[in-house]
Amino acid sequence: MAESMQGLKRSHRCTELSAANIGESVTVMGWVQKRRNLGSLIFVDLRDRSGILQIVFDENEAGTEGFEKAGTLRSEYVVAICGTVAKRGGAVNPNLKTGEIEIQAKSLRVLSESETPPFPIEENITTKEELRLKYRCLDLRRPDIQANIIMRSKVATLTRAFLAEEGFLEIETPMLTKSTPEGARDYLVPSRIHPGKFYALPQSPQLFKQMLMCAGYDRYMQIARCFRDEDLRADRQPEFTQIDMELSFVDVDDVIDVNERLLAKLFKEILNVEVKLPIQRMTWQEAMDRFGSDKPDLRFDMELKDITDLVKDCGFGVFTGAIEAGGSVRGINAKTLGGMPRKKIDALVDFAKGYGAKGLAYIAVQPDGTYKSSFAKFMSDEEMKAIVSALEGEAGDLLLFAADRNKIVYNVLGALRVELAEQLGLLNKDEFRFVWITEFPQFEWSDEEERFVAMHHPFTMPMDEDLDKLESDPGAVRAKAYDIVLNGTEIGGGSVRIHQADVQSRMFRALGLTPEVANEKFGFLLDAFKYGVPPHAGLAYGLDRLVMIMAKRDSIRDVIAFPKVKDASCLLTDAPNVVDEKQLGELSIEITKNETE
Ligand code: AMO
Ligand code: AMP
Repeated sequence: MAESMQGLKRSHRCTELSAANIGESVTVMGWVQKRRNLGSLIFVDLRDRSGILQIVFDENEAGTEGFEKAGTLRSEYVVAICGTVAKRGGAVNPNLKTGEIEIQAKSLRVLSESETPPFPIEENITTKEELRLKYRCLDLRRPDIQANIIMRSKVATLTRAFLAEEGFLEIETPMLTKSTPEGARDYLVPSRIHPGKFYALPQSPQLFKQMLMCAGYDRYMQIARCFRDEDLRADRQPEFTQIDMELSFVDVDDVIDVNERLLAKLFKEILNVEVKLPIQRMTWQEAMDRFGSDKPDLRFDMELKDITDLVKDCGFGVFTGAIEAGGSVRGINAKTLGGMPRKKIDALVDFAKGYGAKGLAYIAVQPDGTYKSSFAKFMSDEEMKAIVSALEGEAGDLLLFAADRNKIVYNVLGALRVELAEQLGLLNKDEFRFVWITEFPQFEWSDEEERFVAMHHPFTMPMDEDLDKLESDPGAVRAKAYDIVLNGTEIGGGSVRIHQADVQSRMFRALGLTPEVANEKFGFLLDAFKYGVPPHAGLAYGLDRLVMIMAKRDSIRDVIAFPKVKDASCLLTDAPNVVDEKQLGELSIEITKNETE
């Protein structure tokens, strides 16, 4: 029977007790992890968010009634226990914070009972994620998930404290707003008062933080929820959290400086990891050329090698064709994988095709120095030797080549590089390799829209030396944009913003936005900027991604209390779901198609 607290007060969390408390009377409360009966003694492991504490019920101490009640305890019952801290009667448990002590129970109160949980409340269980998410409340009790959620709270608290110290003001921006320019699809909220009209949930606070700079707040920060209706992956959620900031009267280096110190503080205080400052910087072009990615994982080498010049006159049509069409041929050297069976190589080819490759050519350097290769028959021995030597191939290496447009070559080899590193066990989660990626292209050509689109967003300032190419050669314009990358994940990004009306109109023109359209979309920002706007710049981290890496997890779902799954639904609440006809009526909404159709 569940009892009430009846004035009982918890004196300590489970692991706040140690040998230093021996002899003290204490009251602890929590969940029963497990019970063991050993003749005249009953042992209970009590769990709260701090950890586990052993309780002993001895009939002489707890009285017959207390002893009998203890015998009925089952996993996940919530109990309050009053007793005395004592040195452990049995062997010390070095795996527990409280391994030297136990509580000799004097009284027991059952605060609530529990049905048998659908999975064990333990670390590292193999239960399917769907079940864990359906019973998320139980899942969140598990110590490994709890540690992640607690770490997340620490990151938020330290970030706020650090930025406050640096003169940032925490200011909230609206959730019900107008579409923001981050480029994903918006989540829309219908308006009851304005039938047929919709709010958009913010993809980021971008426009508002720029207006706060215009309003003179100087340094803004917010831990902000953002919403993006895009396809989910392991490191993407439809709603996620940014550590967002914006600063006035600054340039690239100022933003980088304050953020490096923030990162160093977080990693030192939470993980006791020293981040060596300054963090390495790499231009976007260098990152693409060396790693095939604008978020290079620098924990391992396997760099791309450009062999375009070497093979431009060779007899292999796949290579020469790609080069003649303006593309390139590049390769990577997967050290020690030369013995890979044909089947696994074919799987790599399929993997590459998933990234847009038409194929993947390879050379496996045999232990005796001869080659097994998919294209040797088109090449002279000298040409093969030169290619192998360009990739520093040695006996036992597997060399893989992509020939295509640069964009595809980068994409394919960049992804392959990470895939192979994974297979080779090179992705050490205890190592943290940061890099700033700078000098991003301002624009990206969109085949779909047949125009240039902004790579970051349309308010990003071009580099001073490229300003005059805005009209003549937009593809060559680099932006004052920067991403912070950690172990191959983009954990944050930002830019210096345009604060001059003339540059902004040239930007809109380059993006194919007429003044009318620009005005309709962003007029409120442009209007604000007519009244004195300071030069400003900012950055936003994906808090979930940052914590995911700090917690050494592979999925951001493990660091979000109530995450959504791949199809953007919530298994716990069953959202999204149908709503009452009445509610729809109030919103003047008619459903023309539903999921089952
Ligand atoms: P950006 O779009 O690069 O920039 O977003 C900033 C960071 O947010 C994280 N992120 C996500 N995390 C989880 N799920 C998602 N769907 C998701 N999308 C993005 C990434 C990313 O680096 N307003 C600009 C910032 C600025 O310019 O100041 C912005 O939102 O870690
Ligand atoms: P094929 O002559 O088409 O059979 O191709 C010979 C080899 O080249 C095969 O191993 C293909 O996988 C590979 N290949 C085909 N297209 C490309 C490409 N674009 N880049 C690299 N290798 C390719």
